[in-house]
Amino acid sequence: MSWMRPLGATALEVSALGLGTVKLGRNEGLKYPADFELPDERTATALLARARDLGINLIDTAPAYGVSEERLGKLLRGQRQHWVLCSKVGEEFAAGHSSFDFSPEHTRASVRRSLRRLQTEILDVVLVHSNGDDLAIINELGTLQALQQLKDEGLIRAFGISTKTLAGGLAAARYCDVVMLSYNRQQREQLPVLNACAERNTGALIKKALASGHLQGSSEDPVQASLELALSHPGTSAVVIGTINPDHLLDNVAAARRALD
Ligand SMILES: NC(=O)c1ccc[n+]([C@@H]2O[C@H](COP(=O)([O-])OP(=O)(O)OC[C@H]3O[C@@H](n4cnc5c(N)ncnc54)[C@H](OP(=O)(O)O)[C@@H]3O)[C@@H](O)[C@H]2O)c1
Repeated sequence: MSWMRPLGATALEVSALGLGTVKLGRNEGLKYPADFELPDERTATALLARARDLGINLIDTAPAYGVSEERLGKLLRGQRQHWVLCSKVGEEFAAGHSSFDFSPEHTRASVRRSLRRLQTEILDVVLVHSNGDDLAIINELGTLQALQQLKDEGLIRAFGISTKTLAGGLAAARYCDVVMLSYNRQQREQLPVLNACAERNTGALIKKALASGHLQGSSEDPVQASLELALSHPGTSAVVIGTINPDHLLDNVAAARRALD
């Protein structure tokens, strides 16, 4: 399997490993194993340069990731063409708390704000940041219709949902360009979603491939084992791993490349 691969039936091509950027913009209300400081400008610039040098072209961000979008807009100035930018709608994080709004009006306003913050005229992928009520989002709230309209208007290239449920993932694989799903050695319930993505040629982005840093098990190399699990499935378009540690980034790319050999 190759390092660069199609994102489902979209015209986008993504690297097998993408960079998750929660930790670039937010350090409260998270479930990572340890507290951390946001990286300073020099460290963040070096991290993104390293990601690019290592062949990564996919970046995942969200309005709910604090200042992540705004920082990326500045940090990636002049290199927009290199990157496939994925952001989200629906979740807001302020004063230590999340709130959700999946209405078409908020969806449109949120995408316009992401375009401004990311300093770009088009977002490659926009995912609904689910609160867990995936099926209501898909069937009742008009969020996907708003995203389809934004796609028709040329403001986004593809859309989908970052799901939390199996039923939601299966429905998203039918109705969306892209599904983001959790899949790791401790959490394999979403396997049927990956199967559905493979059958339908829907893009599949895996989140929490390293169980958000809570790696367990008897394997000598849990990072390698995790990437092998995620990348061995034909439905997987890319694995989005969050890190602000340049050595981890290097390890993750090496493990992903070995997994594809
Ligand atoms: N609902 C949603 O839409 C949603 C939810 C969760 C995540 N996501 C997206 O998916 C991305 C990944 O999810 P995630 O960050 O929750 O989980 P993850 O990628 O499974 O794990 C990230 C954690 O693992 C650590 N880590 C990374 N590489 C490592 C290595 N080689 N060895 C040891 N530890 C390592 C990171 O710490 P260091 O910084 O120290 O490397 C970080 O704390 C996020 O960044 C985000 O973009 C989306």
